[in-house]
Amino acid sequence: MSSRISFKSRIAGYLYLVADEIWDILETMLSLVPTGFGCMVRGLFVGFLAKGGHVPYIRRNCHIFRPWKMKIGKNISLGRFSSINAVGGIEFGDNVRVGPGVMISTLNHRFENKKVPIVKQGAKYGKVVIGSDVWVGGNASIMAGINIGEGAVIAAGAVVTHHVEAYTVVAGVPARKIKTRL
Ligand SMILES: CC(C)(COP(=O)(O)OP(=O)(O)OC[C@H]1O[C@@H](n2cnc3c(N)ncnc32)[C@H](O)[C@@H]1OP(=O)(O)O)[C@@H](O)C(=O)NCCC(=O)NCCS
Repeated sequence: MSSRISFKSRIAGYLYLVADEIWDILETMLSLVPTGFGCMVRGLFVGFLAKGGHVPYIRRNCHIFRPWKMKIGKNISLGRFSSINAVGGIEFGDNVRVGPGVMISTLNHRFENKKVPIVKQGAKYGKVVIGSDVWVGGNASIMAGINIGEGAVIAAGAVVTHHVEAYTVVAGVPARKIKTRL
């Protein structure tokens, strides 16, 4: 029984690997397409693979790992050089703006056991949920499992380690509330 399960999961692992490689080739080629037209073409592919039925606007060199694990609202834009790892799931509401160089992570490597190399300890996954009308400033980082409430603003360079309340502005490392949107 257990060997059948492990055989199945090994096959699933290989299939994921193949899907990841195919997406990597496609994403690299799509990244070469300049202008707003390129942003829309990349969006068409990502929108087709993601859930939600909407087409995001994706600037050049924005890297998305496993776009099929995302759910996308309408009128989303993702900035240049952003690195979006959707392995643990990401949900975007409507009208979200993600600035350049933003990192969204949905996994943490386990490291509890110092006698085992970190790379062999597996990972913990946490879905990131970004509400509607959120603006994520450039070079911000959003950690696994974080919920960002509707209308929130994440300042440039913030490292978000706690949930963010709706209509608040957070900044700094770690990100703290600096004001409320009036
Ligand atoms: C968050 C932001 C919108 C705040 O703008 P604001 O409402 O005008 O706020 P203020 O400039 O009045 O700043 C309020 C306080 O927060 C601090 N602050 C503002 N932005 C900060 C940031 N990115 N990191 C740390 N602290 C910040 C200010 O120093 C100020 O602190 P003080 O009261 O001790 O002086 C803006 O600073 C920002 O980060 N914008 C992102 C820009 C960006 O990434 N653009 C890319 C295009 S998408």
